[in-house]
Amino acid sequence: MPMVVDANRVASDVAPVFRPGLEGVPATQSAICDIDGLQGLLTYRGYPLEELAASSTFLETAHLLIWGELPTTEHLRAFEHNVQMHRRVSFRIRDMMKCFPADGHPMDALQSSAASLGLFYSRRALDDPAYIEAAVVRLIAKIPTMVAAYQLIRLGQDPIQPRDDLSYSANFLYMLTEREPDPLAARIFDQCLILHAEHSLNASTFSARVTASTLTDPYAVVASAVGTLAGPLHGGANEDVLAMLEQIGSEDRAEAWLDRAIAEKQKIMGFGHREYKVKDPRAVILQGLAEQLFDRFGHDGMYDVARRVEEVASERLGPKGIYPNVDFYSGLVYRKLGIPRDLFTPIFAIARVAGWLAHWKEQLGANRIYRPTQIYTGAARRTWLPQDARNALPGV
Ligand code: ACO
Repeated sequence: MPMVVDANRVASDVAPVFRPGLEGVPATQSAICDIDGLQGLLTYRGYPLEELAASSTFLETAHLLIWGELPTTEHLRAFEHNVQMHRRVSFRIRDMMKCFPADGHPMDALQSSAASLGLFYSRRALDDPAYIEAAVVRLIAKIPTMVAAYQLIRLGQDPIQPRDDLSYSANFLYMLTEREPDPLAARIFDQCLILHAEHSLNASTFSARVTASTLTDPYAVVASAVGTLAGPLHGGANEDVLAMLEQIGSEDRAEAWLDRAIAEKQKIMGFGHREYKVKDPRAVILQGLAEQLFDRFGHDGMYDVARRVEEVASERLGPKGIYPNVDFYSGLVYRKLGIPRDLFTPIFAIARVAGWLAHWKEQLGANRIYRPTQIYTGAARRTWLPQDARNALPGV
């Protein structure tokens, strides 16, 4: 077991060590997910990701992450039913979203609309399991509806209502496109949600836990995590991967493009991970899902470019432990599903809300507010000067 240190002793006895990005610093204890970055293994509550992706559904996996166990048939049916009952969002939220700029980024729209849920469901009872369950259900149910609503609103259309006869993932694709999806497309989308549902203490989950530790409401927890996920070094990278592949354009240009980018010290999007020193296991599964989609719905030439990029970049960067991460193939899957590029990260959020809520619940179970320290590097103590004296200083 890892040692839990008495913070007062650390403050008095040990000189603080600064680790940029908190690399290698345990910031919590967690029983939710485990990563073996050298072997490329990922488990949720002890279950290998590969088994969950092959056999589970997103809602079953969300239940596992949040409550710690795979649900019985009865519990799963109840959870699915509750989620289905709460998928609609208030017309007031839809009207608010209609005032958002149509050219805004959907992640900004999602962050604002997720935060607004706190206004509508303001009772906060963090020690009441019924409150926790209701908040979990509401967030898992409404986040996809809000993502789909903004998509239609920005196209100048009215959001459409969820359909009760469709599964969680099929309904999301239906609300997005107004067409009932092919069952294979819906299943592959659901598998993508499983793959993105949780990944230990990444930046957005850390953000969620820090926010949770103040005992604020769960909507603020999710809104802060959405804002963190939006950045190009985190969830936003999947958009940039497609842009990069399109810029490269063809397999035969990949090697020269990568050599120039690496020489210019550019980051290759969709490559590298703080935890993995081998190919991200989620990238392995996503690549397989992409191939299933191409077999069924037609090939995508960008996949050939991606495979060549993987080959060359792994040769050049592999010795530093830099290989494809989850974002490298996810964009190709979503593109084949007909999803607009700037919705890739909101879809990541739809999935990751399960992990954020699992961490919210775990944080509440053993809470201590996050308040790390810093190493001050600013000016030594000095005396305030009146403006006349400042103006007379040499060099002003
Ligand atoms: N391309 C080229 N070089 C890279 C890459 C990359 N994608 N990633 C890391 N490196 C190099 C760095 O240049 C650095 O080299 P140096 O030691 O010679 O200076 C070394 O590897 C360490 O890189 P850091 O950025 O310090 O590694 P860190 O662990 O902080 O970063 C991160 C991890 C942010 C994911 C990084 O690999 C990256 O920026 N990748 C591209 C963006 C991306 O794909 N993000 C999605 C990550 S997955 C997710 O969040 C869902």
